[in-house]
Amino acid sequence: MIRKATFLISNTDPKKCPKPDRAEIAFIGRSNVGKSSLINMLTGVKELAKTSQKPGKTQLINHFTIDDRWYLVDLPGYGFAKVSKDKKVKWEKMISDYLTNRANLCGVIVLIDSRLEPQMIDLEFLNWCGEEGVPFAVAFTKADKQSKTQTDKNVRTFLNKLVEIFGETPDYFVTSAEKGQGKEELSKFLYELVSE
Ligand code: GTP
Ligand code: MG
Repeated sequence: MIRKATFLISNTDPKKCPKPDRAEIAFIGRSNVGKSSLINMLTGVKELAKTSQKPGKTQLINHFTIDDRWYLVDLPGYGFAKVSKDKKVKWEKMISDYLTNRANLCGVIVLIDSRLEPQMIDLEFLNWCGEEGVPFAVAFTKADKQSKTQTDKNVRTFLNKLVEIFGETPDYFVTSAEKGQGKEELSKFLYELVSE
């Protein structure tokens, strides 16, 4: 479990991110999927990453230092309809630069809303990770918002899609930032990833 988490720095330019001298894991996913909330839940620090009911809250690459040993990164979400074309292009460049060039990146956690049927934009992003060789695991979010039966059904449908694309099931976690669900499993996985 994470014992200490502190905010370090925010950037728009991936080149200005902290010196890549320690392991790093980034959280990414659609706007409003719950990236910042999940980071707060995992670290046990309520307002470490800023959250909002309105999509598009996180706009920068945010570095947090975990247990004085590794970096956790909160990224802006993709797929927010109200964003201008210009901003979208800038986002894509910033994120793809970051994800493909960050030397110390051990992997990304791609967050998927457990309430929805598979979304094209998520499948496309995961496919891009596969093509670029960015290692990923999937965290399904907001599991508290519906019955366990419905969550299980949606998770299975999504994983089946991934099997179609990749021929295998990635590591995945079912979480609720609200209820603390998945905290132990995901924390353990993050620690394994940064220890490799
Ligand atoms: P951007 O920074 O805009 O890309 O969004 P984000 O992915 O960081 O989402 P954020 O954590 O800000 O959460 C968006 C909204 O969903 C907030 O109103 C949260 O309170 C809510 N939310 C996030 N996770 C959960 C969860 O597990 N359960 C419930 N019920 N609500 C959640
Ligand atoms: Mg956010």
